[in-house]
Amino acid sequence: MKLKHLVMLTALACAAHAHATDVEVLHYWTSGSEAKSVGQLQQIVKEDGFGWKDFAVAGGAGENAATALKTRVISGKPPTAAQIKGPSIQEWGKEGVLANIDEAAAAGKWDAALPKVVADIMKYKGHYVAAPVNVHRVNWVWANPEVLKKAGVNGVPATWDAFFEAADKIKKSGAIAIAHGGQPWQDATVFESVALGVGGTEFYKKAILQLDQKELTGPTMIKVFDTLARVKGYIDKDAAGRDWNLATAMVINGKAGFQFMGDWAKGEFSNAGKIPGRDYLCAAAPGTDKAYTFNVDSFAMFAQKDAAAKKGQIALANAIMNPKFQAIFNLNKGSIPVRSGVPRAKFDDCAIKSMDDMDATNKGGGLVPSFAHGMALASATQGAVVDVIAKFMNSNMSSKDAAAALAKAAKVK
Ligand code: GAL
Repeated sequence: MKLKHLVMLTALACAAHAHATDVEVLHYWTSGSEAKSVGQLQQIVKEDGFGWKDFAVAGGAGENAATALKTRVISGKPPTAAQIKGPSIQEWGKEGVLANIDEAAAAGKWDAALPKVVADIMKYKGHYVAAPVNVHRVNWVWANPEVLKKAGVNGVPATWDAFFEAADKIKKSGAIAIAHGGQPWQDATVFESVALGVGGTEFYKKAILQLDQKELTGPTMIKVFDTLARVKGYIDKDAAGRDWNLATAMVINGKAGFQFMGDWAKGEFSNAGKIPGRDYLCAAAPGTDKAYTFNVDSFAMFAQKDAAAKKGQIALANAIMNPKFQAIFNLNKGSIPVRSGVPRAKFDDCAIKSMDDMDATNKGGGLVPSFAHGMALASATQGAVVDVIAKFMNSNMSSKDAAAALAKAAKVK
């Protein structure tokens, strides 16, 4: 065989090998809009010449995915990347299993493109180990304007008092006032907005972020649980175990008036062809207009032995931070781009509000991490706190007992 042919054959073999390299990505994006969003990432990775091995684990907010990840890492077979965020990234960093992706970060100038608070979350001991995709805002309420109109409710209420008046009217009109899924993380999502709306940002910071024992059992926390108890009265009897996107569908279909949920719910409205302002309304949850609970989705990268796998991992990291990808992904997902340099033009009114409110709350001190979505507490503490809230939602526990239990849960490390 001539040398030229041999070189060509070797090149072909290498190319085939590159195609055969899969990036295995663990995620929990399984609703219609979520699957569409992650499909965009899949496409770019494939265009870059890598295979995509989908490791999707259903279950809102990723509790099941976290368990699956642990099993895989313990058995010595970590995926290329896993959708984890916030303090969990540091927890995995401490286990010594994450990959250094500074190469991608330097080439893509991530330090300049990301807010410092986000860049810090993506680094372990000063090195990038994760890549962020978006910013979700959690303290939203979604509404169906037709349901509101039929009940004689004029727009989305801005205070809790006005909210309960509106909820009464909707209930009377025969519709369900609040669409909810009785799952612990959804309970915690509602609690978070209630705590922020009833207590304000300073209370949220002290009680939830600093876990101040006095605040956790004080009169404001009692009021928060009292308000949450009232919320319970407007949820239908079939809520137990319902997935969040099915609750969103109840608002989309006009069965229910409101849903308290982060803006991944917007992804479902968009996926159903609905237009904000016309078919649905978005507003900050009552009393939280000057606050913003942020939730940044990211992919942590796990150390790979194989050189080709490492290449695939860097390609994946590059794809995630690509401005074009961040635009298309977030248009489908309901979130906003996490990086600078993505034009606003294509985003809808709710997304623009999210962008503006994020800027304003960043300046005004109201920008806080969402604890319900893994951005604030150690995972063990978060788990214990969420358990108390879920127990409160599913029993006749008094507000005082709930506050005491919360204070105890806050000590779990
Ligand atoms: C959040 C996550 C979102 C969305 C939602 C429902 O925690 O940040 O991207 O997937 O859960 O699963």
